[in-house]
Order: sequence, then C-alpha cells, then structure tokens
Amino acid sequence: MAKNTPYESDRDLFSPNRNISPITSELDKQGRLMIGGCLLSKLAEGYGTPLYVLDEASLRASCIAYRDALKRYYPGSSIPLYASKANSSLVLSKIVADEGFGIDVVSEGELITALRGGVPGAKIVLHGNNKSDKELLMAYENGVTIVLDNHHDINRLAELIPQDKPPAELMLRFTPGIECHTHEYIRTGHIDSKFGFGLEELQEVFIKLKEANWARLNGLHAHIGSQIFELEPHRDLAIVMADVFQMARKLGHPVKDLNVGGGLGIRYVKSDDPPAIDSWIKVISSAVIDAFTSRSIDLPRLICEPGRSLVASAGVTLYKLGARKHIPGLRTYLSVDGGMSDNPRPITYQSLYSACLADCPMGLAEETVTIAGKHCESGDVLLKELSLPYSKNGDVLVVFGTGAYNFSMSSNYNRIPRPAAVIVKDGESELIQQREQPEDLLRYDLLPDRFSR
Ligand code: LLP
Repeated sequence: MAKNTPYESDRDLFSPNRNISPITSELDKQGRLMIGGCLLSKLAEGYGTPLYVLDEASLRASCIAYRDALKRYYPGSSIPLYASKANSSLVLSKIVADEGFGIDVVSEGELITALRGGVPGAKIVLHGNNKSDKELLMAYENGVTIVLDNHHDINRLAELIPQDKPPAELMLRFTPGIECHTHEYIRTGHIDSKFGFGLEELQEVFIKLKEANWARLNGLHAHIGSQIFELEPHRDLAIVMADVFQMARKLGHPVKDLNVGGGLGIRYVKSDDPPAIDSWIKVISSAVIDAFTSRSIDLPRLICEPGRSLVASAGVTLYKLGARKHIPGLRTYLSVDGGMSDNPRPITYQSLYSACLADCPMGLAEETVTIAGKHCESGDVLLKELSLPYSKNGDVLVVFGTGAYNFSMSSNYNRIPRPAAVIVKDGESELIQQREQPEDLLRYDLLPDRFSR
C-alpha cells in the first residue's frame, strides 16, 4: 500500500461502495464509457432512455465483500440479508440469493418478488410499522420471519394464527436511542421514530410474548439509519443490543439472532468518504463479540441488512440531453428526458450525484450546467453544478450511483412512464424491467358510464 493513505488494505480501497462508478467501468478505444463490457451510448440507442443499467459484477462483488468479511471477522454464524426496498426485482432477488443472502421485505409486493425470485421463506424477514393482515398471514404461511414492530403486530398475530398451528417465527425491533448524522428522513434509531418498540416497554413486551403460544421469538432487530459514514454508532448499537438480548434471555426467550440493520453509506460524489464494507463488518463484528463476551453470553447469529451499499454503485441511469436554457450571468439548464419520477432523491433529500457524458467521460470541462428533469416542478433538478464538455442535443448523460432507491422510489408524476432497466455482464445486456408505456398508465383508470353518455 502507498504511504499516507487513510485505508488499511486493498479491501478498503476497492470496496464497491467506495467507487462512484461500477467496478467494470472502462473506456473503449475512442474514450467512450463502457460498463459490464457494454457501450453505454449503444445501450441508450438500443433500449431508449431514460434507462437504468445494473452492473452484475459490481453487485456480486458487494455481496462477496459482505460475505467474506463476515467469515473473516465473525466467528459465530451469520447471514446477510439484502434490504430489497433499495431495489426490488426478480433478478436482484435471484442474484443475492445465489450469493448466499437472505432478503428483508416490507410489503406484500416485495415479499412476492423475493419468493418468486427464488428466495426461500426461511431466508426472508418481513419488516413494517403497519403490516396488513394479508402481509402477516402471507409471511406466516411461507415460513417468513416476522419482525414485531409494535403492539398492533402482536395483537393482529395473536388473532390471526390458529391455536393448533406452529408458532410464528419472530424478531422484535426496538428503537435503540442512537443518533447518527444523516438526513433526518432516513434516521431511524433515535427515540422519536415511528419504528420499533421503545426501550422502556421492552420488559413488559417480553413478558407478554412469553405467555403467547403463537409466538417464537428468535431474535432482536435495530436499524439506526441510512447513508451513514460513521462507525461509532454501530459500535454503540452492539452494546445496547447485547443488554436487550440479555434481558430477553432472562425473561425466558431463547433468542439467538441479532439483526443490526443496514445503513452503510456509499460514495455519490468525490467528497463522500464512506467506510469500506470490510471495515463496517469488522467494527460491527468486534463490537458484538466484545459486548457478548463481556456479558458471558454465547455469540448470537449475526444478521445485517445492507440495501444501498449493495446495489447503489452497481447502477447508473442514462438520459438523453434535450433543451438548453442559458440565463446570462446565472446558469445554464440542460434538461434530460427523465428526472424526479425516476430519481426522486435530489428533490426529497437534496442528494448529490455525479455524472458525465457517456461518450466523452474524460472530456475537459468547458461549461458548468444544471441538469434539470422534465417534470413540471422547479425543484426537479438532478444535479446543480456539473462541469461538462460542450454537449449537444441527443448526447447521453450518465448519472452514477442510482442502483438504490431510484427505481424503487420511482413514480408516474406527470404521467411519465417508468424507465426500462437492463443488466449488463461480459459485454451482454438483458432487459430486466420493461419500459412502461403511456397506455399502461391508463390501465387502472375508469370512466363511469355516465361520463360517456
Ligand atoms: N433495514 C431496515 C429496517 C431499513 O429500514 C433499511 C432502510 C435498511 C435495512 C437498509 O438500509 P441501507 O443499507 O439501504 O441504508 N429512501 C432513502 C433510504 C431509506 C432507507 C430506509 N430503510 C434514500 O433514498 O436515501
């Protein structure tokens, strides 16, 4: 390793979540950007734009980084789960399952996607602060672990699960009271959170569950937030969780699973400096080992639930550049053929992104532009200040780091159809999500008879 680097090893340096672009990014002889061996401008031409592109090699590399780090640093048993809210699809379910991951789901839609993607129920965990009876029953019938989030879950399950049937496999989510520095909308571990039981009510809940013959409490869950760059809060979390684990054991629950949630950040822009996957797992493992051995409790099965750090950097979005508006002395707007409906993160969380021209990624910066979406909303801006070579109508723009919370948070605002998505690998591209058509958006519209009379 070079001297004076902040990284301990190559594993830190090459962690996919620390790369702005997918790990297979390369230039062809004409200096055009390729990912997964596919020329991006060609993908845009063939599949149309906007287009989500998923690099299979980056996704698998992240899975392997998690899996290997768990093996390296945690001597007990462990299983990583993919938090599918980041991007739920059949192909993602298949790939992560193939890489030995389970899946965390939060709705009927995510649950059937995981099941149909081939993930066994026993490797699925259902979250949610307001699960429907249908979701609870579907989870129970498929052997999915249900995360009890509140008293409503307990009351509904008590009523739904037949007396003569096996108990539900459960985890219990609590709010650990840990603050971390991330956008307030994606913080979850602090006391004023809608998720999970409060620490002060846990004893009473454990006692109540002990008397419930429909319940088998296997473990505990906590999640402190998302896009987190600090490691300290995760260390603190292990201590709080070990105390609660001990309490559950003392109150007669043979808990064995410790689910520490997700939250590891990624590099969206150069100034972001997230820890590597390896470092994150190392810190969590040693914190859990310390907290459990100092309390003389045998090591739990360690579960983590990464979403963003698995898929965000594996994905890019391709747009075509269109209208240009120059306001002298102020700014130049370049508009793309998508925007807040395919990527609502900038307008929701003021998130920053990196981008370049697909066919001139290394070109000298000749102007600073603002990349605007095509929606009727002034705030529909994807990137505020982007330095680019001069571009022309129809050039393809690549926005990086869009593999997580883009497609899954997309909408049809302004009745704009959702983009198609492709997966790329070794020079091949395959469609994994069909482009919606404007007619699809009328599928559920109804015009009552009296309006056509
Ligand atoms: N586990 C639970 C219980 C969660 O609530 C979440 C994320 C995760 C795991 C995965 O967290 P990750 O590893 O992705 O940070 N839409 C926001 C992010 C919301 C995160 C919600 N929960 C965004 O676009 O930044």
